[in-house]
Amino acid sequence: MKRIFSTLAFIAFICTFSFAQGAPKTIKLLPPTYDEGMTLMQALKNRKSSKGFTEKEISLQDISNMMWAALGVNRPDGKRTAPTGSNRQEIELYAFFKTGAYYYNYKDHTLELVAEGDHRSITGRADAQKAYLNLLFIADSDKTGPGHRPGDANTVSYVNVGYVSQNVYLYCANAGIGSRARGGWNQQKVVETLGLKETMIVVLGQTVGYCE
Ligand SMILES: Cc1cc2nc3c(=O)[nH]c(=O)nc-3n(C[C@H](O)[C@H](O)[C@H](O)COP(=O)(O)O)c2cc1C
Repeated sequence: MKRIFSTLAFIAFICTFSFAQGAPKTIKLLPPTYDEGMTLMQALKNRKSSKGFTEKEISLQDISNMMWAALGVNRPDGKRTAPTGSNRQEIELYAFFKTGAYYYNYKDHTLELVAEGDHRSITGRADAQKAYLNLLFIADSDKTGPGHRPGDANTVSYVNVGYVSQNVYLYCANAGIGSRARGGWNQQKVVETLGLKETMIVVLGQTVGYCE
């Protein structure tokens, strides 16, 4: 009986966890839920780029679902929700909250703290910084090789990132959360803040949040 109570208490803690309570080193995301929200056709009908973002908290379940929708593992062979040319899987996802910047560890389905504090200003322009969450999609050009590094005319990463961003757009439409793909990040500051190797290049940003 004691064990049942402690298990229930643990589940209650996980379900009510708030990102506003500081910056934990690792955030264990919840398993994705597949049976909530609208149909794919309804989500497509509602997909749009939003404005007027607020800092209203997004639930851990929505954050968990969104990360998985963006770039989660959806098959036993380790392949992902978004396709990549030649299965290079070079796009990495970083999530910037007021409390810290996190790396999405898709293998463990966790968010790992990379830089404590509010670094949203390096991800985009002023209105983006007011949003609860800013995402950066960062290509590891070591995985794509010459001719496909971001900035090259023929790069595959700019194609691959479109699928990831659209997955976020569709999940947000499904959940009634606003989002907008965007530019405006500071590549050098991103590299410094996240401690990235120079071959990691931001290919797109996306602002996410409830809107006014
Ligand atoms: C690659 C890409 C970059 C974008 N960059 C910005 C941006 O820097 N700032 C912005 O306000 N919107 C940006 N957007 C959003 C577009 O303005 C928006 O998609 C377009 O106006 C069409 O609106 P819709 O998404 O609601 O259909 C971007 C969209 C894409 C796909």
